[in-house]
Amino acid sequence: MLRDVSACNTYNYGDALYWDARYLQEAGCGSFDWYQRYSALRPFVRNYVPTSSRILMVGCGSAVMSEDMVKDGYEEIVNVDISTVAIDMMRRKYEHVPQLKYMQMDVRDMSVFPDESFDAVIDKGTLDSLMCGTNAPICAAQMLGEVSRLLKHGGVYMLITYGDPTARMPHLSRPVFNWKIELYIIPRPGIQKPGDSCSNVKSYLEPIPLTEKGLLPADYVMEDPDAHFIYMCKKNDERVELSDKSADL
Ligand SMILES: C[S@@+](CC[C@H](N)C(=O)[O-])C[C@H]1O[C@@H](n2cnc3c(N)ncnc32)[C@H](O)[C@@H]1O
Repeated sequence: MLRDVSACNTYNYGDALYWDARYLQEAGCGSFDWYQRYSALRPFVRNYVPTSSRILMVGCGSAVMSEDMVKDGYEEIVNVDISTVAIDMMRRKYEHVPQLKYMQMDVRDMSVFPDESFDAVIDKGTLDSLMCGTNAPICAAQMLGEVSRLLKHGGVYMLITYGDPTARMPHLSRPVFNWKIELYIIPRPGIQKPGDSCSNVKSYLEPIPLTEKGLLPADYVMEDPDAHFIYMCKKNDERVELSDKSADL
């Protein structure tokens, strides 16, 4: 079963000590992917992130997502997590995989990396964890500020979350980021409507049109109230815009 951090109040998901204790407790249980496995996310990843990209996986935990991406052709994934326990475990596990690097780091301060050093940042459940901790809005702003700084122009921040647009768009749509955001909604693993056909599956791959305020359309029906949201946040390609402008002159 995949877990969900929507039951925020029960645990302190924003606390490094909580995660260290949890990974210690789970040592020996192997890997674990929150929300979704790479197989379900692959169409979105492949569509937005070329395999030659330099990728930052924020809050990697013990997920096999990065390993699966390497098997699918991705060449460089830097994985960070606040938990020393998780990072030590993953570093040992993947020491023979040159495409994967593991670094202990707080996503609110990733100053070790220079500006615009990644083509893509992937976040599965980490912003959600910060949103469950103390000072959530400040922590979220610090993390997203770092994500924005680290992305190259034209790069993409892929956020996989249980947070719907009312909860996430105020943080993602800040003018200072100027991200072009596309939203997808995918069912939890194992949730299928009776009579599901290929055409339904295909429709998950279509972005949901958002209102001007970045919300779901009033008539939008959520078939699974616990579905997962994928926000594809593209950093403006300044160079392209500049060259477009000079072509107009
Ligand atoms: C819900 S788990 C998701 C793990 C993994 N991304 C996955 O999909 O299975 C959240 C992860 O974020 C990490 N985390 C929480 N706060 C963090 C922070 N401030 N900086 C870096 N990682 C953090 C936790 O240690 C945990 O591994």
